Amino acid sequence: MKHHSHARVTLGGKLSAVLVAAGSSVGLGNIWRFPYVAGDNGGGAFLAIYILCVLLLGLPLMLAEFTVGRASHRNAVGAFRALDSRWSFLGYNGVLAAFLILGFYLVVSGWTAGYMVRSLTGELARLFSAAEYEALFAEFIRDPWRPLVYTGLIALATHSVIALGVRKGIERSAKVLMPLLFVVLIALSVHSLLLPGGGEGLRFFFRPDFSQVTPSTVLVALGQAFFSLSISIGTMVTYASYFKPDTDLRHTALNVTILDTLVAVLAGVVVFPAVFSVGIAPSSGPSLVFITLPGIFNGMPLSMVWSSVFFLLLIVAALTSTISLHEVVTAYLHEEWHLSRRAAAWTTTLSTGALGAVASLSMGVLGGWTICGLNIFDSLDYLTANIMLPVGGLLTCLFVGWRLDRQVLRAQLTNDGTLPFRIYRLFLVLLRYFCPVILLLVFLDNLGVF
Ligand code: PHE
Repeated sequence: MKHHSHARVTLGGKLSAVLVAAGSSVGLGNIWRFPYVAGDNGGGAFLAIYILCVLLLGLPLMLAEFTVGRASHRNAVGAFRALDSRWSFLGYNGVLAAFLILGFYLVVSGWTAGYMVRSLTGELARLFSAAEYEALFAEFIRDPWRPLVYTGLIALATHSVIALGVRKGIERSAKVLMPLLFVVLIALSVHSLLLPGGGEGLRFFFRPDFSQVTPSTVLVALGQAFFSLSISIGTMVTYASYFKPDTDLRHTALNVTILDTLVAVLAGVVVFPAVFSVGIAPSSGPSLVFITLPGIFNGMPLSMVWSSVFFLLLIVAALTSTISLHEVVTAYLHEEWHLSRRAAAWTTTLSTGALGAVASLSMGVLGGWTICGLNIFDSLDYLTANIMLPVGGLLTCLFVGWRLDRQVLRAQLTNDGTLPFRIYRLFLVLLRYFCPVILLLVFLDNLGVF
């Protein structure tokens, strides 16, 4: 049984901590969600507020989770329990959230795989009007079997990485997939920048117009920062439990935050010039990537190549995130229920795959199954993003800021005194006062109090 800290695997190379954590952070949240949320909320002003949220809220929280993970060398539940047994519920919140998020994340990842295939077969290039792309998407997600097959394929791809273990699976896949992601993203950005008429899109995205900003813009930016950085779901706790003793947690958190933000910004650079070059409103919502973009690509030379590459990018980004969500649950089952890692991985794959199947079918044949008026897919999204994440984040701040033994915190942040002790005060002030207040506001807003 490998649940004692000394027997636990750690990551290898110097960059590995940054790469695996960035793999988790960079995902559909950056490339699919960020551009449409920014588009809906005024572009440049949203970007500015988003960056502030990332720095003031995301970064301290990520560091807090890294601390919990590496101080305990355990899965999310075991980690909180080891540090203070009364707080293990926070670990359960994370594991459950990871399980539920994985359920619908597999489905959206499956759509991206489906769209890559459609792009490669030329199906996307045959249609022309926006209405046709809309019909195509609606028909696809309602189809009772095709999205299921793709959801299953993504679940199996994720499983195959997890089954190889932390070093050979998670770490190695991040080392291949993350550089690939950057190459593809940069190629697409250059392509977008060269589009005629794209300058207007860049102005929309980079020039802030604060007259558009409302309190809800701030709250939306916060929620996006949270989801995008993968915090308060147990992923960063779990990954940090594999970090080496000499990994600098502060640098790692800073680098991951910068990479995640860079990818979101580049995704904006890819999407907005394209959107503006054909005169489409940037605020077309979640369908931006599946309905608007294929139409845009279609008008370009080599459209099939660009749209296939774009969906490949989405799949790569999605996979490194599904892997991290899977690992949260697998590590928990392995260490807390004492299943072999193999059995734990299969249990996770089959159960999240089943949840994904139900979520996928809830777009069509199971659409009648609703909770408070939301279908299963939307319920999973709502419950995790609007309730479990803000509550988990809030409690994590309170735990690390107020409860956690200062010696432990200090030892983790300075690697037992070998690193200088700067930023400690600022970190504590953010964690103890600033973050909890802001998170409480987000949470209340999500419940519709304001
Ligand atoms: N951060 C990922 C994204 O942006 C989503 C994710 C959330 C992954 C929580 C793991 C944990 O797509």
